[in-house]
Amino acid sequence: MDLFEKLKKNRGPIGQHAKDSHGYFTFPKLEGDIGTRMVFRGKERLIWSLNNYLGLANHPEVRKADAEAAAKFGFATPMGARMMSGNSNYHEQLEGELSSFMSKEDTILLNFGYQGMVSAIDCLVDRHDVIVYDSESHACIIDGVRLHMGKRFVFPHNDIANCEKQLERATRIVEESGGSILLITEGVFGMSGDMGRLKDIVELKNKFQFRLFVDDAHGFGTMGKTGAGTGEEQGVQDKIDIYFGTFAKSMAMIGGFISSNEDVVEYLRYNMRSQIFAKSMPMPLVLGALKRLELLRSKPEMKDNLWNVVNALQNGLKAEGFNIGKTQSPVTPVYMNGSIGEATNLIYDMRENHDIFCSMVVYPVVPKGIIILRLIPTAVHTLEDVKYTIEAFRKAYVKLKAGEYMSDKIAAF
Ligand SMILES: Cc1ncc(COP(=O)(O)O)c(C=O)c1O
Repeated sequence: MDLFEKLKKNRGPIGQHAKDSHGYFTFPKLEGDIGTRMVFRGKERLIWSLNNYLGLANHPEVRKADAEAAAKFGFATPMGARMMSGNSNYHEQLEGELSSFMSKEDTILLNFGYQGMVSAIDCLVDRHDVIVYDSESHACIIDGVRLHMGKRFVFPHNDIANCEKQLERATRIVEESGGSILLITEGVFGMSGDMGRLKDIVELKNKFQFRLFVDDAHGFGTMGKTGAGTGEEQGVQDKIDIYFGTFAKSMAMIGGFISSNEDVVEYLRYNMRSQIFAKSMPMPLVLGALKRLELLRSKPEMKDNLWNVVNALQNGLKAEGFNIGKTQSPVTPVYMNGSIGEATNLIYDMRENHDIFCSMVVYPVVPKGIIILRLIPTAVHTLEDVKYTIEAFRKAYVKLKAGEYMSDKIAAF
């Protein structure tokens, strides 16, 4: 079959709905300054779907630093890959400041979080090594594991007994191959909001020899006393061998970093293909990240505000009888039962009649019949926003249970 013919027929699990969803349920356009109020289809809505956890996206000092850096350096500087011609004092300063914040010896910047994770996994292991990883890992971990030429064993999400079994299997293999074991999990899981059981995994180091790689995209800036993430939250930061954070969430920017010991970071610097064979991070992003990190470290009230909103929202939803699963982080999933048609009608009602914009997750990301409405509280939401939203959810839930959203037809928009 002609490739283009095949692609035309088989549009992919989400793409098959593109005609009915594009511009509304998928690829919506949120306009205006990033914040809790943005314009969607010409009308102001209350936004609950951005990972702008600390409210830094539109912080005046951040906007000023971004604008000044862009004016001074433009987006070309520095040209080339870090290794060849694209290094700068500012890149190294940012790496140094991240290392000290993360209590690690060294740090490497990543142009993109996703791509950096894939490439780091690819570069850390060879065909003699074994990867053990959590079944609910983010796509970037799964893609990194896909590149791995050796064995990989998956354990059911946060199932420590099974994780131990996989480590036993992995140990038998590396004893033969002479390889090593890399265990990969997340600090905070972005869909369910629960934490990876880092403390329990670290305990397994007493029985097995492995290195722990944690993707803490959602934990960096939100978890732990200083915001240094889920390792700090669980008191095991020093036992995380390789720590990944993104700039795309709490830092409200783009890019990411990996912190570890000096040897490992130097190895990554000289072997990680996504950084060696790609242009270095533009200077405005480096300076923008330095400013964001300074604010993240010096203004703990941003994280306090975030958690006030998180607690009000999650306690309020629970008090109304909503199922928010096992979340232990700001990520707030609201689980309901219904078809994809009901989910889209519900979201449509939320957006058009309550001016609330949140994201929904349906099959194939979750099993058929389950709807997740995902709320992301931030430091800049108010308790009024929380109250208003819970009331709207209550009304929508009554309608859902009464079958009022039932319709074969996806809401017309
Ligand atoms: C757990 C996790 N890891 C990695 C990434 C990728 O990060 P980035 O958006 O910086 O590419 C994300 C972002 O969606 C994430 O949620």
